[in-house]
Formats: sequence, C-alpha cells, structure tokens
Amino acid sequence: MGPSNKLLILYTRRKINATVRRLAQEIARDYADKQPVLIGILKGSFVFLADLVRALDFPLEIDFIRAASYGKGTQSSGKVTLMRYNRTVLKGRHLLVIEDIVDSGLSVRCVMDYLQAKKPASVKLCCLLDKPERREVPVDIDYRGLTVPNKFLVGYGLDRAEQYRNLPDICYIEEL
Ligand code: IMP
Ligand code: MG
Repeated sequence: MGPSNKLLILYTRRKINATVRRLAQEIARDYADKQPVLIGILKGSFVFLADLVRALDFPLEIDFIRAASYGKGTQSSGKVTLMRYNRTVLKGRHLLVIEDIVDSGLSVRCVMDYLQAKKPASVKLCCLLDKPERREVPVDIDYRGLTVPNKFLVGYGLDRAEQYRNLPDICYIEEL
C-alpha cells in the first residue's frame, strides 16, 4: 500500500472479543458433550481459532486445513486448492469448521464438500465475519459473528498480500 493510504478501524479488539465470547457460548451449548474437531481454515483463521478455543472449556480437538485460492490482489480466482496437515480420522466425528471471513463462499464451499465426503457425524460452519454482498455460491453459516460491509478488511488474521495479520483490530484500508 502506498504511503498515502490509511488504516481505519472497523471493529475494535473489544468488539471482537465480545463477539468471540458470544459465539463460544452458542458453540458450547451445542458441542459440550460431543468432543468435536474444530477445523481452522489457514491461514486467516489462526487468530480467531486461538481466541475461540480458549473461550471453550470442554473436550475438543483442533485440526487445520489450508484453502488457497489463486488469484491476485483482493479478487479470488475461483480455483481452490486444499491441503491437510495431519491424519485425524474424521469419519463419525462432529466437525466444526472455523473460518475468518466468508466472501464469495467458494473456499468454504470447497472445504465443506471435502469434509462431508469423509462421512463425519456432522459438519457445521462458524465464521467470524460474513460479507454477504459478495456471495457467489450459497453457504449455510451455523454460527455467525458479524455481518460486514463490502470493504476489503485486514487485521485479526486477515491479510492483504500477507501483511496486517497481526493487527489486533479489524481495519479497512482507505485508498487515498
Ligand atoms: P471466499 O472463498 O471468496 O469466500 O474467500 C474466503 C477467503 O478469502 C477468506 O478465508 C480470506 O482469507 C479471504 N478474504 C475474503 N475477503 C477478505 C477480506 O476482506 N480481507 C482479507 N481476506 C479476505
Ligand atoms: Mg486470505
């Protein structure tokens, strides 16, 4: 980004924290006795997942899947490649996919279809941010944090060209 662009806060760390705790309560109600596997979609969900699991005090497992959509800049190309890092048996388990933001819906759709094919007991989706204006394929969101405007967001795990993931607040970039 050029020196004349500005980062503006859309959601403060305080607002994010309240949202994560509300989601954790909803999830705890449904999963406290199910030993679920929480599956974070890399890389963007790593901050959200780390905060979410520390707000859950029942037995659970954590796994990751990488969904890379090859596109340049802020536009996704529609082609999604998946990568898994370990061999947790998913058959018969209760799976909860953890995503930072659902935009076109293509990444999450691809992950949900892949997981469904593993014959789990259930698969649900929790996303911190939902940007419905950009949806290209329908996605059922079981636990939704915040519905966001059609702006490109960074921070709290979200990047632009791998920058800004470490910002504690969720910001948008004002192009000047
Ligand atoms: P989708 O496949 O178009 O739904 O895009 C989902 C992925 O694109 C997310 O996991 C993010 O990594 C990335 N993404 C979508 N919107 C944004 C944004 O506003 N800022 C940063 N990354 C985004
Ligand atoms: Mg990303």
